[in-house]
Amino acid sequence: MSKTKLELTWIGKDKRPKLEPRILLEDPSLSYHAKHRVSDNDQFDNKLIFGDNLLALKALEQEYAGKVKCVFIDPPYNTGNAFEYYDDGLEHSIWLGLMRDRLEVLWKLLTSDGLMCIQIDDNEFARLFLLCAEICGESNLKIICVKMSEPSGLKMGTVKRLGTIPKLKEFIILCGKNGVKGLDIERIPKGTWDTEYNIFLDGLTKADRESIFDISEQEEISSEDINRLDEIGAHINLCSLADKVRELGLRANEKEAWLFDNAWRICQCATSASVLVLAKLKRQHNANNVFFVKSARGLAYMVRGTFSDTSAKPRIQLIFADDNLTVHPGDLWVDFKNGKKPEALVSRIIRMSTKAGDLVLDSFAGSGTTGAVAHKMGRRWIMIELGDHCHTHIIQRLKKVIDGDDQGGISKTANWQGGGGFRYYSLAPSLLEQDRWGNWVVNKNYNPAMLAEALCKLEGFTSAPSDSQWWNHGYSSEQDFIYVTTQNLSHQQLEELSDEVGGDRSLLVCCTAFRGKSDQFPNLTLKKIPKMVLSRCEWAHDDYSLNVANLPMAQPEPEVDKPKNVSLKQTNINQDDLFGKEP
Ligand SMILES: C[S@@+](CC[C@H](N)C(=O)[O-])C[C@H]1O[C@@H](n2cnc3c(N)ncnc32)[C@H](O)[C@@H]1O
Repeated sequence: MSKTKLELTWIGKDKRPKLEPRILLEDPSLSYHAKHRVSDNDQFDNKLIFGDNLLALKALEQEYAGKVKCVFIDPPYNTGNAFEYYDDGLEHSIWLGLMRDRLEVLWKLLTSDGLMCIQIDDNEFARLFLLCAEICGESNLKIICVKMSEPSGLKMGTVKRLGTIPKLKEFIILCGKNGVKGLDIERIPKGTWDTEYNIFLDGLTKADRESIFDISEQEEISSEDINRLDEIGAHINLCSLADKVRELGLRANEKEAWLFDNAWRICQCATSASVLVLAKLKRQHNANNVFFVKSARGLAYMVRGTFSDTSAKPRIQLIFADDNLTVHPGDLWVDFKNGKKPEALVSRIIRMSTKAGDLVLDSFAGSGTTGAVAHKMGRRWIMIELGDHCHTHIIQRLKKVIDGDDQGGISKTANWQGGGGFRYYSLAPSLLEQDRWGNWVVNKNYNPAMLAEALCKLEGFTSAPSDSQWWNHGYSSEQDFIYVTTQNLSHQQLEELSDEVGGDRSLLVCCTAFRGKSDQFPNLTLKKIPKMVLSRCEWAHDDYSLNVANLPMAQPEPEVDKPKNVSLKQTNINQDDLFGKEP
């Protein structure tokens, strides 16, 4: 039997970087917090990280594995314009490799009931879907199609001339560890009036409508409730909606708004075999135009008393339009007004997958829409961005949000008043660097605190320097600790250290050198820096960037009968809509 399995392959698929888990350095001069509390829901525990997202995600992995409730990313789309020749699949291969490495870490960060969402256009959708299927399992995926523009404007000139098809949509791939479920999806208003709703209930007041609503919502309806409903039904006259519109003299441009405003007194009439049986019995002693019947399950139904006796399936059950003014958006989202990447789109995703206080992450932050929206919705957030717009756009935008000066996007619907804050971080340089003889040594920019934190991370310890125990820099369990020093430890120093730690605890000692045998003290494990970590990862590798303009060059192939070697044009990725304004 062949062991071949169905999978997407690409050039270099088997190459995986050995990432260094860097520490993050806060720059308090770029962090920002509101001057005072605005509400109890203010979120201060947010992170903006400047740097390559693969290294940044690796830096977050230990602390945040299984803690992120919603990942929303909108990666560069690989529009193909970075290469002069791109018919050999190389640019797709590089893009896939870079995405795979990032998605694998993102997937680890997600909670078991979380949602990872990736927005993408036609260029890489098919390949990205297969990649997600490989990482997340195909049964854990769903696809949303989002309308991003109208078939109008300048592009339509070319479309008509060439007889092509305009591109109006993008995709969002949804991935959940236990399938895509447990979402709280907001129903959306219907765009246009449903003409099935064509009966006007003359004589019905708003108070009547509220009483009908309150009684119908009860779990069990009594006979007294039905009597109260019938009293309301007694003064309702059914007339045609078209006649009412004519009577009011509504102009065409006023009609739609009037219909939605008056949906509480407009109905459609549907067939129902079970209601018909009950209605026939009741009509024997109730001659009103409108009356109510009670079903065997204790529910109340509103009936048109003038239903036909001769029809086998008469229209009989009156259904209010205002109960049905909203619809489930399904997997086709066409209701975003200005397309592009509005706050409304991100807000729907965050709303359906998180609650206040949950953590949202965007590792391709762009202009910072995800963080801004999460912030206004009372969620905690982490954003990563490597472009200079991290400083020129994101920080400025977030400051306005925190100060309550951002009235765009979802601010009005979220009743956003400001508050909260964020901390700004960058990635520390690589822990090791090569000296002039090519030997790996500890980077001279590392101070003792940074060195201790970095080794905690590399060894899987939680960094927590103790105020009282000079040797305690972090822990992996209640009994197991780590001590990091650049000293050369003598036998006497180790003996004293072993006594302090005591028989009930164990200590990993990371030092430059030590005297004696490494197994001399049963409660100490002795390791030498940097030898102990040397083979652990790729050191001094700073650029795992996904900026297409920075993609690595392919090795030139020998000249055969084929087009010239792949080369990169010095163009930037197409992010023309990156900083699109909110309405
Ligand atoms: C399409 S934009 C995202 C737009 C964003 N959704 C918004 O609403 O503004 C992609 C972003 O990913 C960033 N990016 C690309 N490669 C990256 C990397 N390796 N690390 C961090 N950010 C990266 C780009 O600089 C760009 O800002």
